[in-house]
Amino acid sequence: MPTYVITGANRGLGIEFVRQLSSNSSNTIIAAVRTLQGDLDDLQKLSSQAEGKIHVVECNTGDIKSIHKFGEDVKQVLGGKQIDFLLNNAGINSTPDQTSLDITAESLREHIDVNVAGPAETLKTLLPQLGKESVVMNMTSGLGSCGKKLPKCTTYSISKAAVNMLTVHQSEQLKDRGIKVICMDPGWVKTRMGGGGAILEPHVSIGGMLNTLHKLQDTDTGKFYTYTGEEVPW
Ligand SMILES: NC(=O)c1ccc[n+]([C@@H]2O[C@H](COP(=O)([O-])OP(=O)(O)OC[C@H]3O[C@@H](n4cnc5c(N)ncnc54)[C@H](OP(=O)(O)O)[C@@H]3O)[C@@H](O)[C@H]2O)c1
Repeated sequence: MPTYVITGANRGLGIEFVRQLSSNSSNTIIAAVRTLQGDLDDLQKLSSQAEGKIHVVECNTGDIKSIHKFGEDVKQVLGGKQIDFLLNNAGINSTPDQTSLDITAESLREHIDVNVAGPAETLKTLLPQLGKESVVMNMTSGLGSCGKKLPKCTTYSISKAAVNMLTVHQSEQLKDRGIKVICMDPGWVKTRMGGGGAILEPHVSIGGMLNTLHKLQDTDTGKFYTYTGEEVPW
């Protein structure tokens, strides 16, 4: 009876994780949302069909206090059970037109807070509930690869390159405890962030990611994968 914790679970890729995972009634899902006052209609609908297996909990990954409160809520929901999969999915790309020549410190800080400090603090906070065989997935992007030379989305790309490095450090520090930490690029997906030009349907991206996540071996920790399970160069 595996347990999944997913951040940014009310829309986009996050809700697609919830949709696919909730089709198996043996899964317990903690669906974390930035605010309980947000647009939760689709998530509430899934939750009402899931016979108590989806727990909707608040976690603003840009706010350390909110993450700590989330930690307490998760502990209460789990009642001593371990988290099998922590999916750090929440993310922002709020200044896609900024290049390295007009980047602002304010935007950079905001992206680092939500996209990097968020997953770092979430793992730290939930560490007591992670154990042997737990998997942590930090959602990255192809734009986080230094091999991609796209001259836009600069702040976002920097934050995703940073979350990649965070993944390497977390995996090294947790491998002796049997906890695997990887990062994944979901592809260019039709969500609010992906925008009009995106090519992949969310169900294809998330189906591929879950398939990859469920097949990970101990030796795979610290790696960067696409949604199809191919390894990506840093
Ligand atoms: N779509 C793509 O093509 C693509 C490509 C590469 C990587 N990604 C990555 O995939 C992940 C999901 O992206 P998406 O396409 O689903 O984006 P999206 O449609 O914009 O959804 C983003 C989700 O993250 C949540 N979120 C934003 N800021 C948050 C915060 N401070 N605390 C908690 N939750 C927060 C949003 O909640 P609210 O509704 O409350 O704002 C929403 O649920 C992101 O990490 C993104 O960088 C996406």
